[in-house]
Amino acid sequence: MMIEDALRTRRAVRDYTDQPLDRATIEALIGDAILAPSAMNLQPWGFAVVLGAARLHAHADAAKRTALSHFAGNAALAAHLADPRFEVFYGAPALVAVCARDDHQQSAEDCCLAAQNLMLGAHARGLGTCWIGLARPWLNDPATKAALGIPAEWRPVAPIVVGHRRSLPAPTPRAAATIVWSQ
Ligand SMILES: Cc1cc2nc3c(=O)[nH]c(=O)nc-3n(C[C@H](O)[C@H](O)[C@H](O)COP(=O)(O)O)c2cc1C
Repeated sequence: MMIEDALRTRRAVRDYTDQPLDRATIEALIGDAILAPSAMNLQPWGFAVVLGAARLHAHADAAKRTALSHFAGNAALAAHLADPRFEVFYGAPALVAVCARDDHQQSAEDCCLAAQNLMLGAHARGLGTCWIGLARPWLNDPATKAALGIPAEWRPVAPIVVGHRRSLPAPTPRAAATIVWSQ
């Protein structure tokens, strides 16, 4: 797939088949992720993986509970989270959390670039992804880190679910770019 096509057709995917993913596939996606540029080439990322739809689903309620308390001030989001039919990981067979391994000033930016690489790489390989920002408070909870084997000093930045997509939504239009030209 050409990069232009990947950019134009990638979508947030919220509907996955039951087909599992194997470690080799996740490692290939992480291989895409680590090609991202990083400040001073520090490559400050680490990857925490939860593999298996059932394993991931088992964490969905805890992730929602933590998100509910974190985003309590946002009424629309709180109502969405309170809906028992809403599964925060969309039944995906894997979660890859891109984490900053240090607290350097630009590590979070580096992790976002790695996450975008991972999402585009997955799309080019025929897989779907969705960034699950709602899961970030849960991932940053020390108890979650301990349970998932994430080192205490890592900072989960970009939680991405991955899986075989049931369908690919049509591209959504973007608002025109706001540009300021200095001339
Ligand atoms: C930082 C960030 C956080 C996001 N968090 C969520 C989330 O918690 N749940 C979700 O379903 N989508 C989430 N998304 C996906 C966005 O809703 C989606 O990218 C956006 O609506 C544009 O749609 P597209 O990616 O299909 O072009 C997030 C995206 C980003 C970049």
